[in-house]
Amino acid sequence: MAQKFRKICVLTSGGDAPGMNAAVRAVVRAANARGVEVMASVGGYRGMIHDELIPMTNRDVSNKIQLSGTFIYSDRCLEFKEEAGMQKAIATLKKHEIDGVIAIGGDGTFRGATDLSMRGIPTIGIPGTIDNDITASDNTIGFNTAMQSVVYDVDKLHDTCESHARCNVVEVMGRGAGDITLNTAIATGAVACVIPECPFDEDACIEKIIRLRREGKRGFIIIVSEAFPTLGQELTKKINDTTKELAEKEGNDRLWVETKFCRMAHIVRGGTPTLSDRVLATKMGVRAVEELLAGNSDLVVVERAGEITTCGIGWSQVLDRKYKGTLKPGMTDKYSAEELAEMDKFIEAKKAEFAATYAMFNELAN
Ligand code: F6P
Repeated sequence: MAQKFRKICVLTSGGDAPGMNAAVRAVVRAANARGVEVMASVGGYRGMIHDELIPMTNRDVSNKIQLSGTFIYSDRCLEFKEEAGMQKAIATLKKHEIDGVIAIGGDGTFRGATDLSMRGIPTIGIPGTIDNDITASDNTIGFNTAMQSVVYDVDKLHDTCESHARCNVVEVMGRGAGDITLNTAIATGAVACVIPECPFDEDACIEKIIRLRREGKRGFIIIVSEAFPTLGQELTKKINDTTKELAEKEGNDRLWVETKFCRMAHIVRGGTPTLSDRVLATKMGVRAVEELLAGNSDLVVVERAGEITTCGIGWSQVLDRKYKGTLKPGMTDKYSAEELAEMDKFIEAKKAEFAATYAMFNELAN
């Protein structure tokens, strides 16, 4: 028979993401509706280590759904990676009679969640990160808002690029994942984008810009993933200098595509959560509570083809590593040949979809 849950703990950890507050609200209200108390660990796992757990009632989560950031705070807590920190966290959970934990964050957060479940604390993860880099889920909380923020600001850059017949190279966050970059490149009518998942030909890009300028195109936008830390600035200089030289050579100053660089950095992490992030966060929060109270643990709530479902945190982490090519020896040992084949199929489909979207983008980026 499933354990009787009386009190659970919720936390947000890692980089904050718009919609995390909506997820916390959903966890608190869904748990309260089922007669279960909730405490929040302030500042992610750090709150557990330093005994900063605060009660969360329905009223505490009022008027929070529309706010960005995370009102229970977040942290990348190095102390929690050490056994001593972990033991302090577990002592705090025992002291407050916590029966289970819901951890909202990215892959680092899920590693912490697994560590807790391995030590006997039932834990469920919810993917909250702007990067959309949890391979097992089609969408993560915050991804949609982050893209909306990029589009909102790049549209402004486009206005001024068009007026001055310039190019703007914009670097956006996303860590090692090109999801934000590719989608916002499509949505802003960019002329090129640089993502880790697909090859980029710099010379071809510059040739294209020159061809388009000869055809009369004035403003250009290029979106570059932060996965290439120096590429954006280098490309900016190269487009600027190459076209300037050409303009001088041909005695035609219209051929000079004056090029500026813009790094959006953390601006992308703020901003009012979009409707879809609020709804996704709400559905995932409720599902996490249902799973925990049903006696399940070590699961991550994911969205696939519009449906909310779950998979094992370990499974999701191995899938991520396989997708990113960062598997370490022994990591797949506990999975059967069928499970590994299922992961490969999943990855193939995701990569094919990415490549098709990139091809579509390039065909229209003219
Ligand atoms: O994971 C979210 C994210 O915003 C990444 O896109 C980015 O690389 C990183 O976090 C930045 O981390 P920090 O806020 O610690 O500078």
